[in-house]
Amino acid sequence: MTEAIPVPLQKLHGKVAIVTGAASGIGAVTARHIANHGALAVVIADVQEAKGREVAASIGSNRCTYVHCDVANEDQVKYLVDSTMKLYGRLDVMYSNAGIYSSSVQTVLELDLSSFDKVMAVNARGMAACVKHAARAMVEKGVKGSIVCTASFVAECGTEGVTDYTMSKHAVLGLMRSASVQLVKHGVRVNCVSPGLVATPMFIAGYKLGAEELSKIMAAVYTGSQYGPVKEKDLADAVVFLASEDSALITGQNLIVDGGFGAQAVSVLGQNGDSIVMK
Ligand SMILES: NC(=O)c1ccc[n+]([C@@H]2O[C@H](COP(=O)([O-])OP(=O)(O)OC[C@H]3O[C@@H](n4cnc5c(N)ncnc54)[C@H](O)[C@@H]3O)[C@@H](O)[C@H]2O)c1
Repeated sequence: MTEAIPVPLQKLHGKVAIVTGAASGIGAVTARHIANHGALAVVIADVQEAKGREVAASIGSNRCTYVHCDVANEDQVKYLVDSTMKLYGRLDVMYSNAGIYSSSVQTVLELDLSSFDKVMAVNARGMAACVKHAARAMVEKGVKGSIVCTASFVAECGTEGVTDYTMSKHAVLGLMRSASVQLVKHGVRVNCVSPGLVATPMFIAGYKLGAEELSKIMAAVYTGSQYGPVKEKDLADAVVFLASEDSALITGQNLIVDGGFGAQAVSVLGQNGDSIVMK
């Protein structure tokens, strides 16, 4: 939960935003934070219908709607953007955040290419579809919008057992950098946020972690941290910064929000690669 923000401190007053993957985890907290920052409307896009509707209702039906959207399906992404334009007349912010892990360990030697295709379809192709259709809507309306994509602490390094996921997050950086170069002439900014390890449903369920194992891993990753584990709200703050006028001159950047502990997370997960079995 984020708290009510006094009007003079709100950074997204009157803005219309879409958040993908907003039924859960980082997306859900960020959608609420964007609404609390004075957004006129927040559209929640996800494949989890019940959870998505629940998040939208808790933010308020006057300013939040749910649209079923599988980002791997370009027609559904187009519908998401078109219906937002129809309802609110403009799009100022696209937070393209939906992402998945493979359902098995994905070392290069054991790479399951059908799982690989699923991860790339959502994390890379889906991200490209969201950036494409959001950018088109912004350019057509002459809106100086902001597009933010979720990459990861693994977007700039190698990993022990999630080759496809790691590749997909490297692809997100390539997409963001190319889009930022191409869209700057239209006044549209494109940036990434890269979370460190966050105890969201994706991470807990993906690695089949019990509470005890989870707290051991988080303690190992964040040993020596003065700030504690990275939380969803830390990402929400970074997204609001990149979506707002506070970052008016910033585009083409990957804002890493890992408390300085992303490398430690890669190494802890690597050491535990045999004991942490992904679903
Ligand atoms: N949790 C972490 O440690 C961590 C670290 C680095 C990056 N990330 C990234 O953060 C983003 C959010 O993940 P999270 O940790 O909040 O996980 P999460 O599982 O809690 O949330 C992800 C959401 O994306 C939705 N989604 C999945 N496939 C979709 C699709 N095809 N179309 C639309 N929505 C879809 C899910 O239903 C879910 O609501 C992801 O891109 C993930 O890769 C997470």
